[in-house]
Amino acid sequence: MPPPDIDLTVYPDECDAFGHLNQASFLTLFERARWEMLARGPGMDVFTRNGAWPAVRKTVIDYHAAAFPGDVLRFQQALTHHGRTSFTMRQTARRVRDDILIATAEFVFVCVDREGKPTPIPTELTDYLNAARGRPGPGALQRFTVNGVSLAVDIRGEGPAVLLVHGYPYDHTIWAAQMAALDGYQRIAPDLRGMGQSDAPDLGYSMATYAADLAALLDALGVGEVVLCGLSMGGYIAFEFLRSWRRRVRGLVLMDTRAEADSPEGRRARDVAAALARERGAAAIADEMLPKSLTPVTLARSPDMAERVRSMMAATPVAGIVGALGAMRDRADSTALLPTLGDIPTLIVVGELDQPTPPDRAEAMAEAIPGARRITIPGVGHLSPVEGADRVTQALLEFLRSL
Ligand code: MLT
Repeated sequence: MPPPDIDLTVYPDECDAFGHLNQASFLTLFERARWEMLARGPGMDVFTRNGAWPAVRKTVIDYHAAAFPGDVLRFQQALTHHGRTSFTMRQTARRVRDDILIATAEFVFVCVDREGKPTPIPTELTDYLNAARGRPGPGALQRFTVNGVSLAVDIRGEGPAVLLVHGYPYDHTIWAAQMAALDGYQRIAPDLRGMGQSDAPDLGYSMATYAADLAALLDALGVGEVVLCGLSMGGYIAFEFLRSWRRRVRGLVLMDTRAEADSPEGRRARDVAAALARERGAAAIADEMLPKSLTPVTLARSPDMAERVRSMMAATPVAGIVGALGAMRDRADSTALLPTLGDIPTLIVVGELDQPTPPDRAEAMAEAIPGARRITIPGVGHLSPVEGADRVTQALLEFLRSL
């Protein structure tokens, strides 16, 4: 059983003069949600029983939207990392009425004894939280620790393996339609480190690290070869993967991506975006990225899809955003790699209206990779597997069947 969701009501005395839930009360609600969860699991006295007290060592909270008296907030919480004496909990609070993301938080704890010395985490606690994350139900994510980081991974089906790598600042859910439809293949869609439900360490982000995480994940799954499909930053990671693990790539799909490194202005823009994320949180990045991810038509006519994408981005840990921006800023140019890929069947997919990685970038890659196929999805922007879900799935299926 996963840890239960905890619903807590916002009261007037927890709000400021404008009626917004105030910061101190928010901290209390996050804490109350954790104790409630323990009360329904190993017991609220799990720490005192074991002579270990969880002292908070670090707190990062991103506030995404205001909450008001009477709002019921649903807290979801997961153990994202643990060592011998310290552990990290990730919590999200959504308003039940409209499912709007109100805040996300990460708390790092160290267990201490009465003298304040670090002491092992009670195994009852880790057993409870690990059992919840290790036993996937239908559609649930599995967790794998690779290179010291716990990755959340959606794995479905049997057959030749297809590894679906999302871009920035998204998560594995951008592949929802393809994960559901690619029957006859083992579909593997991880959340990259720092994004989705994977661990978000403060440091250690580069294209080489993301690629090494993927290789280690395939090792953990006992998967040798894959068809490697990367969207945007996922494509940058695919190029890095090819540099070190080319023999594992049975086929390549480059989706809404490009081979060039960032220009000097592009690099500067990464630093500006990282400062924005540090100062104003993931919600500010989500606001900036939404019109680059979906077309104006989708934004106007499909508010549900727009809100899903916005809240996925807004839930990305700031450490993961800053890490990805640095990794993209410092990535190598991959154009020289393209002419060497003639022995790997390659499909290039691009949304006709993609702004960050427009169709001329796809065309340039298709011309440079001997034998590459290219498909442009009409009326679709950067997030083509979401906006053009059926057509992208169809293109992938045809490509996979041709291998
Ligand atoms: C992505 O979707 O991964 C990003 O837009 C890539 C980028 O910013 O270069």
